[in-house]
Amino acid sequence: MRTVKRTGDHPGTEEGGLPDGPALVVDGLSVSLSGRQVLRQVSFSIGAGQVNGLIGMNGAGKTTLLRAVLGLQPISSGRVHLAGGRRSIGYVPQKVLLDPDLPVRARDLVELGIDGRRLGIPLRSGAKLARVEELLASVDGSALLDARVGALSGGEQQKVLIAHALARHPRLLLLDEPLANLDLHSTQETVTLLGRISREQGVAILLSTHDMNPLLPVMSHIIYLAAGRAATGTAEEVVRSDVLSRLYGHHVDVFHAHGRVIVSVGEEHREEGCEPGPEEACGPDHVTESDASAFTDDSAITIANAQSPRL
Ligand SMILES: Nc1ncnc2c1ncn2[C@@H]1O[C@H](COP(=O)(O)OP(=O)(O)OP(=O)(O)O)[C@@H](O)[C@H]1O
Ligand SMILES: [Mg+2]
Repeated sequence: MRTVKRTGDHPGTEEGGLPDGPALVVDGLSVSLSGRQVLRQVSFSIGAGQVNGLIGMNGAGKTTLLRAVLGLQPISSGRVHLAGGRRSIGYVPQKVLLDPDLPVRARDLVELGIDGRRLGIPLRSGAKLARVEELLASVDGSALLDARVGALSGGEQQKVLIAHALARHPRLLLLDEPLANLDLHSTQETVTLLGRISREQGVAILLSTHDMNPLLPVMSHIIYLAAGRAATGTAEEVVRSDVLSRLYGHHVDVFHAHGRVIVSVGEEHREEGCEPGPEEACGPDHVTESDASAFTDDSAITIANAQSPRL
């Protein structure tokens, strides 16, 4: 049985557990911002060595959810269980503005992530540099060691930021939109890298994106956010017209074309028979309750292709 210890530094956050248990359990999480419920009864768990996609359109609540897991965002109700405590989280935030003239090298940024101690004994500078080199090598970034971070390309900066986030041997790595603004090559390189990190280091990864296509080769599960609710499972289980229609609270089409799936979120009109009460789930078991009025857009987004993700 998993032991859970309250940390006390943030209501609703707990830590502890067996090493082989879930790295993160989010249970009935609700968050309100400026009086509006942005997340409502969101529940999911992720295990070691898994890459999980946090999928949702702009404003769906992805950053809010990641901030709640980090303890940066107060929650209205629910629980966040972290197997290794908050210090076991590595985080790459959504917006990292690095001025090209900033006199900071990749090695300096990565070193900032190292706590400078091992078993309470201060690391010698030689040991620190060796660790920085090891971290940069782990993201295929050895050549970036002395480069100014502000002058690096988006893909190169992403590698350095991931190396920084890995510095304290996290059990859980959170990345907020790490694929935004990357070209196809850098996107594929980053996804391959994250798959390798999760596999080889046993790190549980949760990354947000509005396009899940690039993740399919490495992703085990998705947490799909819409209208404050979450649908979770494999892509095959979640990216379906019936499940997404229930999630959004109105009809959603899922088209397969040229090996891809297009999700078309049309005009909102609340689906008959999907009027959940305060504690009642709407739709299949893996769809949690929501405020379906939050979205009224009629855009179409590509979120998956027809191939099944690796399980
Ligand atoms: N401090 C705040 N006060 C009020 N509303 C907020 C605050 N921060 C975010 N929101 C709103 O909460 C909703 C969710 O925002 P969030 O940033 O979590 O979305 P997101 O899924 O990360 O979007 P994006 O893909 O654009 O990054 C949005 O409607 C946003 O406007
Ligand atoms: Mg965001």
